[in-house]
Amino acid sequence: MRNLIFILLVFTALTQTLAQSNDADFSFIFMTDIHYQTKRGANEAFQIAIDSANQTNADFVLTGGDLVYDVLRGNFKKSEELFIGYKEAVKGFNMPVYHCIGNHELFAIYEESPEDSTHPDYKYGMFERHLGKTYYSFDHKGWHFIVLNSIDVVGKKYIGMVHKEQLDWLRQDLAKVDKKTPIAIAMHIPLVSTYREIYPKKPITEVPNNIWIYNRKEVLDAFKDHNLKLALQGHMHWIEDLNIQDRTRFITGGSIAGRPSWRRVDDRGDGIYYNEEGFMLINVKGEEIDWEYIDIGWEARATK
Ligand SMILES: [Fe+2]
Repeated sequence: MRNLIFILLVFTALTQTLAQSNDADFSFIFMTDIHYQTKRGANEAFQIAIDSANQTNADFVLTGGDLVYDVLRGNFKKSEELFIGYKEAVKGFNMPVYHCIGNHELFAIYEESPEDSTHPDYKYGMFERHLGKTYYSFDHKGWHFIVLNSIDVVGKKYIGMVHKEQLDWLRQDLAKVDKKTPIAIAMHIPLVSTYREIYPKKPITEVPNNIWIYNRKEVLDAFKDHNLKLALQGHMHWIEDLNIQDRTRFITGGSIAGRPSWRRVDDRGDGIYYNEEGFMLINVKGEEIDWEYIDIGWEARATK
């Protein structure tokens, strides 16, 4: 009898543990390079992406920047309409959406822009006014998520950079996180990508540049004593999944807009292969993740 009670107790404890671990498992969506606009059918395609996302079991959508296309060239009225249109569209998601800034959200930084640095919405201003802070963190089912702003401006160009004020904030944020807690970060310009190695035809001679985060060592050093499991990246409009030293996965999540943005050009002359328009559904089981790429089935109509 005593043995039976013992077995029953062990069984109950085991099933409770299993139930708890299953409760903690979750899925979320990483959706990047949306390039929202009203031309080329982009808003229609984005609605298809939203409908596809709503059919998943995801808890939330995390974006990877380039939400609108684009405000780099200024023009207040046009830029304002893009942000308002994007905000209206994302109301269609049946789950929370976390916004990440991409290069195309930097207002009026290009030479040809009619507005300049004296405008209150210059650079990050328009994003902040519409969508809130460009870097922040949140917790979800035992994971710590950090959204980073990986873009800065030098002269009239954007570069990959995590600015100093943000690095200070990041170190303070991490100081409050247990060293064992699994961490996921999201940003637009990649920390780590093989793009240059795979496509050496497009040599990059400038440093800093717009392809990788110039001070990435400083950024990664901030996580040295923490459990950084996952870095989600945008910008490249391709799919990439790198497992570095079986410690951190660096995943670049394709794009909603395809490449080139909302156009179909079969041969751009650069020999570069890009992925279909879609997003990643990421499944988290304990500290392990896997993903599937959901092709939204959109085919670009425009060729120019
Ligand atoms: Fe993009």
